[in-house]
Amino acid sequence: MMLRRQGEPSPGGPGWERRAVVYEVYIRSFADANGDGIGDIAGIRSRLPYLRDLGVDALWVTPWYPSPQVDGGYDVADYRAIDPQFGTLGDAVGLIADAHALGLRVIADIVPNHTSSAHPWFLEALAAQPESAARSRYVFRDGRGAGGSEPPSDWLSIFGGPAWTRIHEADGRPGQWYLHMFDAEQPDLEWSNLDVRAEFEDILRTWFERGVDGFRIDVASSLVKDHGRPGQPHKADPASSAYGSVNDPLMNQPGVHEIYRGWRRVADAQVPPRILLGEVHAPNPAAVAGYLGADELHGAFNFHFLRCPWEATALRSVIDETIAAHASVPASPTWVLSNHDEIRHVTRYGRSSTGIGDRSADERLASDLKLGTRRAGAAALLMLALPGAVYLYQGEELGLPEVADLPDGVLRDPAWERSGHAMRGRDGCRVPIPWSGKAIPFGFGPTGTAPWLPQPGDWGRRSVAAQSGDPRSMLELYRRALRIRHEHPGLAGDTIRWLTSPGDVLLFGRDAGFACAVNLSAEPFPLPAGVDVLLCSDAAGPSGDRMLAADAAAWFVR
Ligand code: GLC
Ligand code: CA
Repeated sequence: MMLRRQGEPSPGGPGWERRAVVYEVYIRSFADANGDGIGDIAGIRSRLPYLRDLGVDALWVTPWYPSPQVDGGYDVADYRAIDPQFGTLGDAVGLIADAHALGLRVIADIVPNHTSSAHPWFLEALAAQPESAARSRYVFRDGRGAGGSEPPSDWLSIFGGPAWTRIHEADGRPGQWYLHMFDAEQPDLEWSNLDVRAEFEDILRTWFERGVDGFRIDVASSLVKDHGRPGQPHKADPASSAYGSVNDPLMNQPGVHEIYRGWRRVADAQVPPRILLGEVHAPNPAAVAGYLGADELHGAFNFHFLRCPWEATALRSVIDETIAAHASVPASPTWVLSNHDEIRHVTRYGRSSTGIGDRSADERLASDLKLGTRRAGAAALLMLALPGAVYLYQGEELGLPEVADLPDGVLRDPAWERSGHAMRGRDGCRVPIPWSGKAIPFGFGPTGTAPWLPQPGDWGRRSVAAQSGDPRSMLELYRRALRIRHEHPGLAGDTIRWLTSPGDVLLFGRDAGFACAVNLSAEPFPLPAGVDVLLCSDAAGPSGDRMLAADAAAWFVR
């Protein structure tokens, strides 16, 4: 049965997101239409048929707003406009209309934890007096120690260094300090301020009126801070698994939920209602589910799944915990393997340590990319067989690895400088993707143009054109898996049933006889007798005697 493909998105808003496959477009690196080396909205528009044919339901576009681009656009100077380097407001509205005409939804990215230091509010705050209304929209404090020369607390920026920067007052003297969880050019907003609340609800309404189907909420778990507790357990590391751990005064404070209840009222008041997805970093799946509900968010990214090592026991427990945590809330589990902040999973899965630890250490680990690619194919079938929504990151369908050897001089992630070069940062997963041809920029931009980050010279063989039609390619594996996921009635429900298997093989059934096997052992695993194999991540397929090779996954019907 075809569920929904082309034509108008089905009416009713919320509901579609519960099974959706959402494709993350990192705008700078997706497609460059005008040849300035930077991806843009016209580029995305030209590639919408690719996304429809791939079989995704929606795209999430990373921030497109005017920005100094200190942190890839996560430093917003004007939330209601489009950065000229990406296009115009007309282009954005046109993209939304084109996507809808192809049956694709569009999720925008909103950044409420902080603005850019170039935002008019922050400029006003700098020019204003301490304790003024303009200062109260941000988190300004007097320093400690003699003359206030010490930061107000020991909090650290996630990109390295202190989370506080001292300003000069209007008269030129050293003055107050302001909080920034990320770069110093990303001052944190003060969410107890009612101006801040009203402003963001108005920004949501503005974009909903322009047609966006929902928002991905950046650092959704951090808007409220507990200033009573200076010490913090999280590390200065955007990918550390300690990020979002228990008792972090910068994360998961109870007051944050009320903000999203207000946002949900705004989203529900639209016709059709719109959706809210949170970048929630919390200690466990149950704590993540605490953000979900009929009066709060519709979904949150499953970072516990993303960070999980390639080990059967660990994966089984994160799957079980996730499904259990969602059983009591009206929202679906979500599954994700990569995004624009994390080392690409082809590379992670080819290392001796396959989970996510400290970025500065992880970045130094060697990777067997052949092994990582095999596991990535198996992981895709695992993820796409689970109940709920899936988030794909551009290029994972091409099996792209992390570009670990970018020259120092091209690195743009603020984490590189702020960490004193301890972390190379996230540029390696943000290299512009290859579409076609044998020479740089591989169809990312017009022939002869240079992309903003250099592409590896051999990426022609990983391009969309090179993989299309090759049944052994990662791209065709994703295409077939997405088609089956849409069409097979067994994948529509909410539950999985674990079937008897050796400890290092994941074997579970869905409805209508559908089952998935993932072999994480070193030995071939025999699939049950008499089954009909729908898809196998191993291009050779299960061998004649139904043996599923190590690090391969299969979908079959019993
Ligand atoms: C989120 C984004 C990341 C950004 C940070 C600060 O984690 O995904 O790219 O650097 O927020 O906005
Ligand atoms: Ca461009």
